[in-house]
Amino acid sequence: MSTVPAQSPRTHSSSDRATAVHCRGVTKNYGTGNSTVRALRGIDLDVYEGELLMLVGPSGCGKTTLISVIAGVLDRDEGECSVFGKDFSALSSWERTRFRGETIGFVFQSFNLIPTLTIAENVSVPLLLNGVDRKAALQRAKEMLSVVGLGDRVNDTPNRLSGGQQQRVAISRALVHNPRLVVCDEPTSALDHETGHKVMELLRGVAMSGNRALVVVTHDNRIFDFADRIAHMDDGQVDKIVGSAKELYGPNMSAQQA
Ligand SMILES: Nc1ncnc2c1ncn2[C@@H]1O[C@H](COP(=O)(O)OP(=O)(O)OP(=O)(O)O)[C@@H](O)[C@H]1O
Ligand SMILES: [Mg+2]
Repeated sequence: MSTVPAQSPRTHSSSDRATAVHCRGVTKNYGTGNSTVRALRGIDLDVYEGELLMLVGPSGCGKTTLISVIAGVLDRDEGECSVFGKDFSALSSWERTRFRGETIGFVFQSFNLIPTLTIAENVSVPLLLNGVDRKAALQRAKEMLSVVGLGDRVNDTPNRLSGGQQQRVAISRALVHNPRLVVCDEPTSALDHETGHKVMELLRGVAMSGNRALVVVTHDNRIFDFADRIAHMDDGQVDKIVGSAKELYGPNMSAQQA
């Protein structure tokens, strides 16, 4: 198995591409005293503009915690973390909400759709938060839902949709406001092979357009080929960054290994 050190990206170098996400020595604990869980134990990671970086590693290694810190959903305890040069901890609560709302799209592992709203209303939320008027926001949300194959379901509430359909709603909501950074937690876990590929093509298109970046947490070995680089986490640290899944898992990788 050939790997490269975590801070020596194989496909890009910091000199030829601007940094979208910069983390150094990031730590995060849950709880206190004897029950403390050291979820992040000194994360060093850069994600470059124009890049789709996948984050893999065993259950409980800290993937969701890391992307939540990157997206400003959770506060880190120690270390440096910035997104397009801005450090959430240096922003006021209002500035933080605004920067996050404009700059970041987040697909949660559990989708986090609002059950009382239609799916078009769910997808329109980031636009409303960014000051778009309701009619235009709903129109744009419906267009986005058509792109992911849900154009005929826009007036349904989430509970009338399958898990895979709800996942596509969550992805639409993350993309609808054209954020510069999209962070996805297992975006294809509920999707069949063909739909998963279409979603990844959509996400990849986002990463390739302009100065954007994508971080995708996944166990799904069917989508590894969409990655520019793959960062492997173990026990709260990024221990390897490679250019392809074969470098991590060998030529006969399986979903279990991922
Ligand atoms: N709210 C919380 N309170 C206490 N401990 C937590 C909390 N959230 C996560 N943890 C713990 O932090 C560690 C990292 O969890 P995290 O959810 O980041 O892992 P993960 O890599 O995303 O796992 P999975 O692949 O199962 O989604 C785990 O030991 C988990 O039990
Ligand atoms: Mg997780």
